[in-house]
Amino acid sequence: MSELERPGAQQWVPPRPSLRNLREAVQGCRGCELHRDANHGVMGEGSLRSDLLVIGEQPGDQEDLQGRPFVGPAGKLLDQALEEAGIDPGRVFRTNVVKHFRHEGTRGKQRIHKSPSRWHVAACGPWLVAEVGLVRPRGVVILGATAGQALHGSAFRVGEARGLLRPWPGVPGETGTSHVPEWVLATTHPAAVLRSRRRAEDLAALVGDLRVAARALEGREVI
Ligand code: URA
Ligand code: SF4
Repeated sequence: MSELERPGAQQWVPPRPSLRNLREAVQGCRGCELHRDANHGVMGEGSLRSDLLVIGEQPGDQEDLQGRPFVGPAGKLLDQALEEAGIDPGRVFRTNVVKHFRHEGTRGKQRIHKSPSRWHVAACGPWLVAEVGLVRPRGVVILGATAGQALHGSAFRVGEARGLLRPWPGVPGETGTSHVPEWVLATTHPAAVLRSRRRAEDLAALVGDLRVAARALEGREVI
C-alpha cells in the first residue's frame, strides 16, 4: 500500500472528541488498510475519571467481533493482575495503539493475530492522541513491545525498561500537546504471559510492575 493510500487517521478524528463520537468515527476510518479485514474499529473504554491509561497493541479476535477492547483472555488476565496489584480496574481506561485487528490465517475458528507494522501504528496515532486528551490520565502503563516501540521508538525493549517510571514521551507525530501524563511505565503484555511456559513467574512479574504503578498513583513512588 502506498503512502497515498495510507493517509493516517487524522482526518477522521472528530474536532471535539467524546467517548461516543470517537467510537462512531473510528468505524469510518480509512487511515490505513487494516479496516478492510476487520469487523470493528475498537476504541478504548473506561471511566473518563480514570487515573490510569493502559495501552495494549491491537484488538484481538474477540475484541474485533465485539467491538470492545480487552474482552478476551488477555483482558481477563489484565484485570486479574490489576486487582492483585491493588489497582481498581474501574479506574482504568484501556486502549490500544492500533484500533483495527490485523490477522493472518486461522487456527480453528480463531483468526491468528499478526502484529501491526510501525506504519499502521503511525497511521493510527491520532486516535491515541485524542484518547489521551480526553481521559487526561495521571499515569500510563504500556503493555508489550509493539506499544512500547510505538511510544519510545524502535530501540525499545520491554526487558530493559519494565517496571520503571519514565517521563511521557508523547505520541509520535502528535502536533500540539493535549495532555502530559506524569509518568509512563512499561511491562509485559498479558497475552505473552498466557503463552509463556513460566506462566506463574511471568504473571508475578507483571503484577510486580503494576504495583509500582499503584504506588505512583498513590504518590508513594515518584519519577
Ligand atoms: N490484546 C491487546 O493488546 N489489546 C486488546 O484489546 C486485546 C488483547
Ligand atoms: Fe484507521 Fe487505525 Fe483502523 Fe488504520 S488501524 S484504519 S488508522 S483506525
